[in-house]
Amino acid sequence: MRESRRIFLLCLLTFWGICSASEDQQQITVKTGDDVTLQCWGPSRDVIELLEWNKPDLKSQDYVYYFRDERLYKNYQHPSFHGRAELRDSQMKDGDVSVILRNSSVNDTGKYDCYVGYGGRSELITTITLKVTDSGAGTRHTKNGGDNDGHVGLIAGLSVAGLLVVIAVAVGLVIFRKHNSSICQSPAEL
Ligand SMILES: *[C@@H]1O[C@H](CO)[C@@H](O)[C@H](O)[C@H]1NC(C)=O
Ligand SMILES: *[C@@H]1O[C@H](CO)[C@@H](O)[C@H](O)[C@H]1NC(C)=O
Repeated sequence: MRESRRIFLLCLLTFWGICSASEDQQQITVKTGDDVTLQCWGPSRDVIELLEWNKPDLKSQDYVYYFRDERLYKNYQHPSFHGRAELRDSQMKDGDVSVILRNSSVNDTGKYDCYVGYGGRSELITTITLKVTDSGAGTRHTKNGGDNDGHVGLIAGLSVAGLLVVIAVAVGLVIFRKHNSSICQSPAEL
């Protein structure tokens, strides 16, 4: 009884870990000049004290978007994002800390990290890989104005992988338990 509960818990943890990991990755492809929504969700109940959108490959400490003390810090923002980045929901309702990037250029291509600070801690919530293609080239167009291309596929793939891991863990535990109990019995048998 206790054993099966442990297996169940392990499966739950494994699944949870894989599902939450898959939520953190998004890939978006848009054309030059498009507006792009960088989606990120913070906690819906806690007060969001800090929001940082980073682009790690910027060769400076500047941010794409930096929000603290209930306001945007424009002086912390990289010049290439001045006037181009804004919150999708200025109230951050339900934890929506997505940022809309207007008039994208090929230079916006790269990785974006969304950090949210609440309750005295800060957490990396989402990493987005954005690709901005030349508008002239025939691009692979995506649904919903370019949002979340490949996201669903990634989740599906990881869920299947997660299921396999869960099965493997469960089988492994059952085998281990059988093996273990025979070891435990052997001294008594001697
Ligand atoms: C969009 O950005 C390009 C440079 O990337 C600029 O030349 C153009 O004026 C911008 N368009 C608008 C509508 O801001
Ligand atoms: C992209 O970056 C290059 C090199 O930093 C710069 O010369 C160019 O003006 C930028 N283009 C746009 C559209 O911002």
